[in-house]
Amino acid sequence: MKKILVTGAQGQIGSELVPALRESYGGGNVVASDVRMRPGGSDSAGEGPFEHLDCTKGREIRDLIGRHDVGTIYHLAALLSAVAEERPQDAWHLNMGGLYRVLEAARHYGCAVFLPSSIGAFGPATPRENTPQDTIQRPTTMYGVTKVASELLCDYYAQRFGVDTRGLRLPGLISHVALPGGGTTDYAVEMFYQALRYGQYRCFLKADTRLDMMYMPDAVRAMIEVMAADPARLVHRNAFNVAAMSFTPQELAAEIARHIPGFSVEYDVDPIRQAIADSWPQSMDDGAAREEWGWAPQYGLDSMTSHMLDELRKKLGIPAAE
Ligand code: SER
Repeated sequence: MKKILVTGAQGQIGSELVPALRESYGGGNVVASDVRMRPGGSDSAGEGPFEHLDCTKGREIRDLIGRHDVGTIYHLAALLSAVAEERPQDAWHLNMGGLYRVLEAARHYGCAVFLPSSIGAFGPATPRENTPQDTIQRPTTMYGVTKVASELLCDYYAQRFGVDTRGLRLPGLISHVALPGGGTTDYAVEMFYQALRYGQYRCFLKADTRLDMMYMPDAVRAMIEVMAADPARLVHRNAFNVAAMSFTPQELAAEIARHIPGFSVEYDVDPIRQAIADSWPQSMDDGAAREEWGWAPQYGLDSMTSHMLDELRKKLGIPAAE
């Protein structure tokens, strides 16, 4: 088979997507790549090829695709929302420059491309509840601007050049393997670590900030399923809304406290990240994904919380509660 290339493989998503792809398609068929080198040149799963790749360099992408006979690219390398707001020029350079070069290489070599879009592709003018698949998108963050432009660019490459581009609008992702790097929804991951380590957490969003969230195993499965879907059934192709759960920091804290009695949260609001969160959907309508390729989440707030706590206890060496 032609190989699968994952860019940004050492990030929060890549750390779990690469092992899952290797399990499905075989270790040697999945090339992990990142601008950050792994000591010893092996990738996080240690079971397949790892390559250094700077996605803003077209020659590096083309060289890697040619050498490994790549047929599908999961293009994950990007800056997240909070970092992008601090460094908007870098965010444009990487998020747009990287995607453009990946799409050009895909056009040249006939590769399929997966692109993660986000709840960040919406803005304050979008309906926040039951956010439709096709609706107004006027984001007010640089992250959102790059995500909307990326969705459009993927549509363009599909229509104009026949590149098989597909993608999802992912909610905030909760995971225990790798930490997220500078997003607005990171609080939901941090809260678990701090609850287990210290029994308390200082949250940078207000207690009642409701956002769409998803557990990483569901997100990884969605990314694999959308690329395997029958193209004849895909009307939207790119940027499918996918949803699983929707909660506030206060509700997550209450769920964690059911397992860790006495767990407490203080609120010390970061105005920049609060403004970003206030411009995003609280719950997306994922009907198109359900209809066109059979999307269905497996984890809700309670099952995700129990699983996260079990896995993090093992990882951090904290004994299970009595
Ligand atoms: N989780 C991302 C962020 O907070 C949203 O896509 O930036």
